[in-house]
Amino acid sequence: MIKNDLFLKALKGESVERPPVWMMRQAGRYLPEFIAIKEKYDFFTRCRTPELAAEITVQPIRIVKPDAAILFSDILVIPQAMNIDVEMKPGLGPWVPNPIRSAKDVDQVVIPEINEELGYVMDAIKLTKQMLDDSVPLIGFAGSPWTILCYAVEGQGSKSFDTAKGFCFSQPAAAHSLLQKITDTTILYLKEKVKNGVNAVQIFDSWGGMLSPVDYQEFSWKYINQIVEALSEVTEVIVFGKGCWYALGEMSTSKASAIGVDWTCSAENARKLTGGQITLQGNFDPSRLLSPIPEIKKMVHQMIDAFGKDKYIANLGHGILPNIPVDHAKAFVEAVKEYQAK
Ligand code: CP3
Repeated sequence: MIKNDLFLKALKGESVERPPVWMMRQAGRYLPEFIAIKEKYDFFTRCRTPELAAEITVQPIRIVKPDAAILFSDILVIPQAMNIDVEMKPGLGPWVPNPIRSAKDVDQVVIPEINEELGYVMDAIKLTKQMLDDSVPLIGFAGSPWTILCYAVEGQGSKSFDTAKGFCFSQPAAAHSLLQKITDTTILYLKEKVKNGVNAVQIFDSWGGMLSPVDYQEFSWKYINQIVEALSEVTEVIVFGKGCWYALGEMSTSKASAIGVDWTCSAENARKLTGGQITLQGNFDPSRLLSPIPEIKKMVHQMIDAFGKDKYIANLGHGILPNIPVDHAKAFVEAVKEYQAK
């Protein structure tokens, strides 16, 4: 039994005294304690060493005190396990030395044996669960197949992912084959995470908003929904699509327990588009954490009033930024805890 189960209650749609709160990308870059570890170990060493991953996961729980932990890892451990080299270049971000550009390249991509290639993630989960001692739930995550394809094909981050889109539109058969391999791997991976103790999973479709609504159905949602169908049998699933307000309606009819919303969609529109029944998560503009603390608190209370206290998980509309003062991140969490329904 998890002592603080507000997050799980909200995912199940149960009434709560106040909404739960956590922050996307809360384990990381704005915390001095994280920077100290980062100075000693490179990125994938941090991901691959269970003691480091577990310590980084619980840092925000100790310091900022949200209602859920998210395992420190990265969405790019999946392509790595599928025989696609991925490096993390300081200052640049993800870097794929041999990006996927043809059907022949897709043939080289494998569906791995999860415990062989990603056993270190499972070890990190077990250790994190011990350290959390059932204080708060632990969230596991994966990137959406489309977002993983973006990095695997583009080879690095991009403002528009034109090369990735060009690959899908000019070689759709190869693109669909790659998306299906990523989907199959992700289902096996997330199921294994659940077996090892995560209490919910979130799918990050960070680059879904690069696609038109029609292409989103074909290249992103079709695959996310396979993951949702498979995982909803064993755990609660949250889908977060950045820039995907146009897909909120479709998402809300799936078996997902909650849908993430970014800050470009108002609470009112998000409720309208999703029919008012499903739990929503979001959507504070991450840059708004640069406002003075009293302003942050006021805006957080307005956000909760707009979404309503039930069927709602307070969060940012995307990951926390590296330049946010820790006090401001704490104020965000405190504001939710101080919320009194009108
Ligand atoms: O709360 C958490 O921080 C949990 C761990 C987490 C990381 N990445 C650690 C990380 C999570 C949930 C992710 C997800 C992730 N990774 C996404 C989806 C979420 C989103 O922000 O849209 C994406 C697109 C990635 C790919 C990725 N990893 C990029 C683009 C970068 C470089 C830019 C950046 O954000 O700093 C990373 C590196 C990365 N992943 C860092 C961390 C803490 C920073 C680099 C470092 O610490 O060396």
